[in-house]
Amino acid sequence: MFNCRFSLFCVLTVLCISLCVRSSNMNKCVETDNQALLKLKHGFVDGSHILSSWSGEDCCKWKGISCNNLTGRVNRLDLQFSDYSAQLEGKIDSSICELQHLTFLDVSFNDLQGEIPKCIGSLTQLIELKLPGNEFVGSVPRTLANLSNLQNLDLRDNNNLVANGLEWLSHLSNLRYLGLSNVNLSRVVDWPSSISRIPSLLELYLDVCRLPQVNPKSISHLNSSTSLQIISFTSNELDSSILSWVLNVSKVFTSLDLSHNSLHSVPDGFANITLCQVKRLSLSHNKLSGQLSDYLPESCSAQHDLEELDLSHNPFSSGPLPDFSWFSSLKRLSLEYTNVVGQLSISFDHLRSLEDLDVSHNQLSGPIPYTIGQLSNLTHLYLCSNKLNGSISEAHLSGLSRLKTLDVSRNSLSFNLDPNWVPPFQLGWLSASSCILGPQFPTWLKYQRKLRVLQLSNTGIKDSFPKWFWNISSTLSYLNVSHNKLSGVLPKSSESIKTEHTRDRNNILDFSFNNLSGSLPIFSSNLYVLLLSNNMFSGSLSSLCAISPVSLAFLDLSGNILAGSLPDCWEKFKSLEVLNLENNNLSGRIPKSFGTLRKIKSMHLNNNNFSGKIPSLTLCKSLKVIDFGDNIIEGTLPTWVGHNLLDLIVFSLRGNKIQGTIPTSLCNLLFLQVLDLSTNNITGEIPQCLSRIAALSNMEFQRSFILYFRDGYSDDTSSLPSIEITVMLAWKGQNREFWKNLGLMTIIDLSDNHLTGGIPQSITKLVALIGLNLSGNNLTGFIPNDIGHMKMLETFDLSRNHLHGRMPKSFSNLSFLSYMNLSFNNLSGKITVSTQLQSFTAASYAGNIGLCGPPLTNLCSEDVVPPYGIIDKSDSNEDEHELVDIGFYISLGLGFSAGFCGVCGTLIIKSSWRHAYFQFFNHINDWIYVTIIIFWVTMKRKFQIQP
Ligand SMILES: *[C@@H]1O[C@H](CO)[C@@H](O)[C@H](O)[C@H]1NC(C)=O
Ligand SMILES: *[C@@H]1O[C@H](CO)[C@@H](O)[C@H](O)[C@H]1NC(C)=O
Ligand SMILES: *[C@@H]1O[C@H](CO)[C@@H](O)[C@H](O)[C@H]1NC(C)=O
Ligand SMILES: *[C@@H]1O[C@H](CO)[C@@H](O)[C@H](O)[C@H]1NC(C)=O
Ligand SMILES: *[C@@H]1O[C@H](CO)[C@@H](O)[C@H](O)[C@H]1NC(C)=O
Repeated sequence: MFNCRFSLFCVLTVLCISLCVRSSNMNKCVETDNQALLKLKHGFVDGSHILSSWSGEDCCKWKGISCNNLTGRVNRLDLQFSDYSAQLEGKIDSSICELQHLTFLDVSFNDLQGEIPKCIGSLTQLIELKLPGNEFVGSVPRTLANLSNLQNLDLRDNNNLVANGLEWLSHLSNLRYLGLSNVNLSRVVDWPSSISRIPSLLELYLDVCRLPQVNPKSISHLNSSTSLQIISFTSNELDSSILSWVLNVSKVFTSLDLSHNSLHSVPDGFANITLCQVKRLSLSHNKLSGQLSDYLPESCSAQHDLEELDLSHNPFSSGPLPDFSWFSSLKRLSLEYTNVVGQLSISFDHLRSLEDLDVSHNQLSGPIPYTIGQLSNLTHLYLCSNKLNGSISEAHLSGLSRLKTLDVSRNSLSFNLDPNWVPPFQLGWLSASSCILGPQFPTWLKYQRKLRVLQLSNTGIKDSFPKWFWNISSTLSYLNVSHNKLSGVLPKSSESIKTEHTRDRNNILDFSFNNLSGSLPIFSSNLYVLLLSNNMFSGSLSSLCAISPVSLAFLDLSGNILAGSLPDCWEKFKSLEVLNLENNNLSGRIPKSFGTLRKIKSMHLNNNNFSGKIPSLTLCKSLKVIDFGDNIIEGTLPTWVGHNLLDLIVFSLRGNKIQGTIPTSLCNLLFLQVLDLSTNNITGEIPQCLSRIAALSNMEFQRSFILYFRDGYSDDTSSLPSIEITVMLAWKGQNREFWKNLGLMTIIDLSDNHLTGGIPQSITKLVALIGLNLSGNNLTGFIPNDIGHMKMLETFDLSRNHLHGRMPKSFSNLSFLSYMNLSFNNLSGKITVSTQLQSFTAASYAGNIGLCGPPLTNLCSEDVVPPYGIIDKSDSNEDEHELVDIGFYISLGLGFSAGFCGVCGTLIIKSSWRHAYFQFFNHINDWIYVTIIIFWVTMKRKFQIQP
């Protein structure tokens, strides 16, 4: 019995063991494959332990490996992991080529480096080879030609990969998918013929490949035709020959993306052939000219399937919206920046499938047609920056139950909706700036529970925030209600104005330019931008310390009635870049913890009552703008500014109680463009070394606007503006706020101090300076002879000093001068003759007993003897009157033409200056105008006199 039972047990056991061994034998990895994989693993750098399962004997059970279940050979290697935080680094070891049975190899989106092993061409069983999104370098191995079974070859987005030729592609007779985007193909001149010899190719991606142009002559020789369906060539600067190639090489393509190239036109019949056939066409961001309608077919004979059409960002000549009613399947239509004028007359009733419509940034006018309300699938509607007018009513919106984006900003539209209307949609993005939504706060927003972006600036709202608003605001990441007349107080607690998306760099609140009052609310700590300027917020800033605003980069509280001293908790503001507290009633000392703001670029405390000394800011090395003007700050000028803040562009301490001398270390600030120390108690001499400041002494110095752009939403930065900063400066005798143009200004203002000594000769090396004000000091000596070197000077003030001697002749070279004051010095002699100098009023020269000649009424006579002698005989021997007459005309003419060429010459050469001049210094035009008038008047007089 026992035996019997035992033998039965034995039999069963043996059976079981043999079965088990059998089945495991079937699956078990072949030793050579196992070894190859371990070598491969050795080449990887696997910081996140993705391949921790790669050990032991049976490699078929390892992560990412599959084996043939009969032979046990590794046939698939799938190392693409959806978790982007876990990536492989290192190299692909050539041991991979020992896996001779591989049919599928995918290492997409890791961080692998080094070259693609050449031996990979020996893996002849491969059907799919996917290496995109790594850091492979070197050239694409030509040995890939041996992979005759390959159907899918994807090498996209390896930015340092180069192909020296593609002729080998013709051997891949089974290739259906080819992705080489971002691979450098600039040397592959014959790529068009190589591609056209891949008979089975269906999908082709050659974006950002620096493709050489197609040679139009070679196209006719390509008598091969592919089955290409999807073609993508974006961002290659290709010209229109590419279209001829496309039309030649495939008769059946359904998707064509040629956006971001240099197409000027399309071949005859292109629209007929293409648009009646494709599903998707993008020609956006090209140089297409002619009428938009030229790019649409007159009719399509067969069934047409066009679903996506993008012709945006092309310089078409302005014309009306063409008829799109042919395309009844159209889902996406992008026509922004295409110079469309006239009515928004799309036959919406034929475009019932439309989901996205973008006709923004055109000159569409008139009302929005009601038929838009029939587009029941409409999801994203962009109409911003047009000239649309009329009202938006329920009839427009009630049918749009899927609407998620509505951008109608910058039109002349007004919302005319019943306060009790309940919208059928849940918007994520509403931008209506410059439309009229007020005066009541729009109640229909009450039902919008998914808003992330709400842009309601300048919408005529004259109301207080309804209570429900603080419920819907909890989903917002961008809120702009600036430039309205919103009043009342903001809720106290941070819970009410919270921005949901914790790690989102786009958390922006803009309440500026309203009538909001009360104390500052407590905001959530994940804000990126907080703009509360130009309201009536009062009380102190102590609440700022209640949170840890670790991501706050822009804080603007300017133009309120905030008072008291600043809290000393600025070490919490780890990301702060711009701090604007100007135009408040803040007082007390500037807190020491300002010195911990390591990222700060711009600090504005202007026009408060801050007192005491400036604390050490030596760690704030990113500072570009310091504006501490119009306070009661005392102490001496800190020497560390010149030693530590080497990026400084604007330094203003105007209107304080600063004493002592100007430290020569300021001359280390090579980027310094605006130095305003006016109206202080500064003594000593003007440092010689100012001429070392490159930004002021080098005309070629790169200047730029000081603008702080927010990250994010970059696809439409135009409707979500940059952060602006302003600095108050004296310009032509008047205080003026400078903002966008600030970074282009080059000004030294040392006026109203107690400076002594002479004007250093070296100051004339500041040839890029456009404003120099040394008035109201105790300066003595002569005006430097070479003053005419400072050709860019537009405003120049030396008044109220003790300067003596004559006006240097070179004054006449200052052809941009439009404000000048030399009054109340001891100058003498004849006022230099030039186009500008005689156009100033006598007040510019008043209080100099010795000056004579126009525009002063006391003419110079021979007995006017300059106090220090040397009379230029040739000048004074001539009849003074005659001289003024002729000389004046001549120099007027020369002054004018030289001045004009000067302007235009500079403007043509330096586009940054051109920008500056045309955009901001309109007076140049005025000056040209004035000069032309004077010129004409005098010429006319002469001509009238002479006949
Ligand atoms: C072996 O693999 C093939 C294809 O992968 C599959 O269809 C078959 O079911 C597998 N056989 C066994 C016994 O797992
Ligand atoms: C486009 O097709 C229409 C009708 O199918 C035809 O009348 C027209 O001439 C064609 N245009 C071009 C440029 O081929
Ligand atoms: C709207 O979209 C749905 C699915 O998204 C689709 O079934 C329907 O056909 C579309 N309507 C029109 C008019 O295209
Ligand atoms: C300048 O300093 C002197 C003393 O050094 C002081 O009397 C005077 O009030 C100061 N002036 C200003 C404008 O601060
Ligand atoms: C100039 O210096 C004199 C004496 O040297 C002094 O009396 C006068 O106040 C000073 N003027 C200014 C504007 O500093």
